[in-house]
Amino acid sequence: MVFAARSLNFDFDLIQKYDNPVPRYTSYPPATQFSNDLSETEYRWAIAESNERQTPLSLYFHIPFCQTACYFCGCNVIVTNNKNMPETYLEYLHRDIDRKASLIDCDRPVLQLHWGGGTPNYLNLHQTEKLWEKINQHFKFDSSAEISIEVNPRFLTKEYIFFIKSLGFNRISFGIQDFNEEVQHAVNRVQPEAMLFQAMEWIKVAGFESVNVDLIYGLPYQTLHSFQKTIDKTIELDPDRIAVFNFAYVPWMKPVQKNINASTLPNTHDKLEILQMTVDRLSNRGGYLFIGMDHFAKPEDELSIAQHDRTLKRNFQGYTTKPDTELFSFGVTSIGMLQDMYVQNHRGLKDYYQAIDRGVLPISLGVKLHRDDIIRRDIIMQIMSNFMLEKSEIEAKYHLNFDGYFAPELAVLKLLETDGLVRVTPDWIEVTSIGRLLVRNIAVVFDTYAASRCNEKLSKAI
Ligand SMILES: C[S@@+](CC[C@H](N)C(=O)[O-])C[C@H]1O[C@@H](n2cnc3c(N)ncnc32)[C@H](O)[C@@H]1O
Ligand code: SF4
Repeated sequence: MVFAARSLNFDFDLIQKYDNPVPRYTSYPPATQFSNDLSETEYRWAIAESNERQTPLSLYFHIPFCQTACYFCGCNVIVTNNKNMPETYLEYLHRDIDRKASLIDCDRPVLQLHWGGGTPNYLNLHQTEKLWEKINQHFKFDSSAEISIEVNPRFLTKEYIFFIKSLGFNRISFGIQDFNEEVQHAVNRVQPEAMLFQAMEWIKVAGFESVNVDLIYGLPYQTLHSFQKTIDKTIELDPDRIAVFNFAYVPWMKPVQKNINASTLPNTHDKLEILQMTVDRLSNRGGYLFIGMDHFAKPEDELSIAQHDRTLKRNFQGYTTKPDTELFSFGVTSIGMLQDMYVQNHRGLKDYYQAIDRGVLPISLGVKLHRDDIIRRDIIMQIMSNFMLEKSEIEAKYHLNFDGYFAPELAVLKLLETDGLVRVTPDWIEVTSIGRLLVRNIAVVFDTYAASRCNEKLSKAI
């Protein structure tokens, strides 16, 4: 049986051998497979079918604005101080909500809601309240719903924290990235330690159920020693969950990253040492468990418990313990997920506004899943979340013979087994301790689109 790990085996040569560009599998097929072939009519049909299923709902709202540009940022953001922009955006976002909500059976309970960005706390209290009211005008929340928000600690006030808590938000996440001043200057994100501890104090006093913080390893000027201090400070801060992302350095896709001098970045060997120290220190000193794919949680956290029980799930909102939901997303660039379809809204404000003015749904890309995609998605998400797959579960669910259907994949897994990444038995596929760090490389074996993507420039696995 697999348990969340207290520590991981590090074999530098092996990790470097597998340090290839692989998707993060927040979706399968990955977003690189989305195309503009999907029509609005197909999406409307899919929504009607999802109403028939009465699946519970997950809702995502994208607030793209940021006050300043962090040079490492790979998110879909608009950096501006023009206060008219959010006003106009919110007007269109409200219309997007009204139109889509008219197609959704809003008696379906909402189990998850997330405001992401960009910086949701870019909005002032009045704008925040109006958006919250608009959502509540249409949707009904289950009493156990996870209602979460991402905030930027540099623009946070006590008043804001208490206000969003009073609205109903019960989970909060904020970016730290690194406590070190030299690193903070190099990435144009200076946030003194006192500010971060103050933000955490307000959050704890306000009584949020769960607090997550984000760190990034691989940033300019980071060293093993400097990041160790960041880890220790983070442990002192005492969040429930910690995400430690590998810096996705893709200046060809994110021009803001060209502000970073590549010669100041730690090399692959240094990054691996930093990662090893991070996993060891968070586990042994901090008492956190490695949940997988950059995430750590306290042993009593529901994510750790769900992973132990093999009921952990992964979707666009990250890891979750909630039963299957279908996701509707609002705002630019946001992605929705139905049982057999992904759709992505327009990426640019102009296209998003024009679609809403024309009275059509503001979708630009998407993909319809075939039966084979759905089976593979299930397998990939199970491997990514629970580090284990029971073949008989897939056989019973999809009426197939696992070893026959996946004979080519099992042959490839044999090679990974030789390298110690997985154990394949007649009944199980189990990710080993070293394999946990390379879980994307195991998941990719079941990705039929991987070969057609080999020339694309994704970020690396570690
Ligand atoms: C939308 S931001 C978080 C909320 C808020 N805007 C903030 O910065 O505090 C989401 C997180 O993505 C991570 N992130 C952004 N760009 C990244 C990159 N290029 N590589 C790895 N992680 C990145 C950061 O850790 C960041 O906190
Ligand atoms: S890291 Fe957060 S605040 Fe910084 S640019 Fe990205 S979304 Fe905005």
